[in-house]
Amino acid sequence: MQNCSKNQEYKTFFIETWGCQMNEEDSEKLSGMLKKMGYKKAANKIHADLIIFNTCCVRENAELKVYGHLGTLKELKAQNPQLIIAVCGCMMQQKHMAENIIKKYPFVDIIFGTHNAYKFPEYLNTVHQKNSSVVEIQDRETGIIEGVPIDRESTIKAFVTIMYGCNNFCTYCIVPYVRGRERSRKPKDIENEIKNLVSKGYREITLLGQNVNSYGKNLIPKISFSELLRKINTINGLERIRFMTSHPKDLTEDVIDTISECDKVCEQVHLPVQSGSTDILKKMNRNYSKEQYLNLIYKIREKIPEASITTDIMVGFPGETEKDFEETLDLAKKVEYDSAFTFIYSRRKDTPADKSKDQIPEGVKHERFNRLVEVINKSSAKRNKAYMGKIEEILVEGISKNDSTKLMGRTRTGKLVNFEGDKDFIGKLVKVEITKSNSFSLSGKQIQ
Ligand code: 5AD
Ligand code: SF4
Repeated sequence: MQNCSKNQEYKTFFIETWGCQMNEEDSEKLSGMLKKMGYKKAANKIHADLIIFNTCCVRENAELKVYGHLGTLKELKAQNPQLIIAVCGCMMQQKHMAENIIKKYPFVDIIFGTHNAYKFPEYLNTVHQKNSSVVEIQDRETGIIEGVPIDRESTIKAFVTIMYGCNNFCTYCIVPYVRGRERSRKPKDIENEIKNLVSKGYREITLLGQNVNSYGKNLIPKISFSELLRKINTINGLERIRFMTSHPKDLTEDVIDTISECDKVCEQVHLPVQSGSTDILKKMNRNYSKEQYLNLIYKIREKIPEASITTDIMVGFPGETEKDFEETLDLAKKVEYDSAFTFIYSRRKDTPADKSKDQIPEGVKHERFNRLVEVINKSSAKRNKAYMGKIEEILVEGISKNDSTKLMGRTRTGKLVNFEGDKDFIGKLVKVEITKSNSFSLSGKQIQ
């Protein structure tokens, strides 16, 4: 174990991340900053001199997990008083949560929110030099901070954030309160980052934003998301471009055309629907109806027949009747999603939906959730079965997680494939014949 006194240089760190890809990317930035300061990654919490919890607050479950894990750190800190513990991310961006952590977990040394993560090295130095704790939550978002070093998990595929924040204020969602308003990165900064990644051997990038379809609206000169996609599509050496998340109200025909026309843009659309009931969608402030959503799906299927379509769906939003829920089931059956993230509505403090008197009992929510998962699993299995016997282009990501004799990678449509193949092909595109399918993955063998 490393020596770790608050007056000495700290050597190893461990970051635990909850939540979405945005949080994953923020953690990669924290890791990048720490490595620049001379720190190294610890294999686990027990051997770390610094532990960071990067938290999520989108649902209550995510918060409960953080509390549970914090509880276990108390013992580690008692064994090693020099251990530094930092808690950051979306949960900490809410003042009442940060106050709660200070009160209940006084052994936490550093607390900061989403808007000031780039200042982490400063906070760490303060703890080292002054031997005091730091709590800093910045109310408002700053402009975009470029040039923060990133230590990426993969050497093959990378997330690249193109915009931060969200202006949509869906009535259940806390994200706009903790991530601030929409702001887009300059196209040149995005392009340069991707070119740099390609020069290091990365083959695939996923463009990230809460609502990528409104990219560029606040830039001068304005640029649309399709224009950005077309620009990135010309980068030599890059093989695949993915993006998420699209909002159905903003996904234009232009973007659908761009996906079908640009060779590097993969045939995969993540299009969160949330509910199949137009009444509930209205209460959610989603700005589209069931019919409009279905028409969008039919357009995608018409122009990009091979596209995989995935979604986020929520059950138990306040006021959701059995009839509303059946509309959701009906929509899911009509769309036949490749896969879906399914959620039980979770009350979030200070959001409009939390104030509704029509909260749905937990038992009803769970029963609906199970019925929905059954429909989704059926369509996932059906969509995957259609790959049987096909020859697919796979970007090989590494050794399979559940069988070390096999490799794993993804199709252009984002399907996970485990296959027998040659390890020398990790990081490369290969052809794989699909020989087996289930609801969650495909299997096959390399043929080239
Ligand atoms: N309860 C349950 N699910 C939620 N999501 C966002 N807010 C909530 C909430 N309060 C889901 C939405 C969103 C995904 C990222 O998380 O489906 O698309
Ligand atoms: Fe939340 Fe809606 Fe914004 Fe998505 S679009 S982050 S669900 S407010």
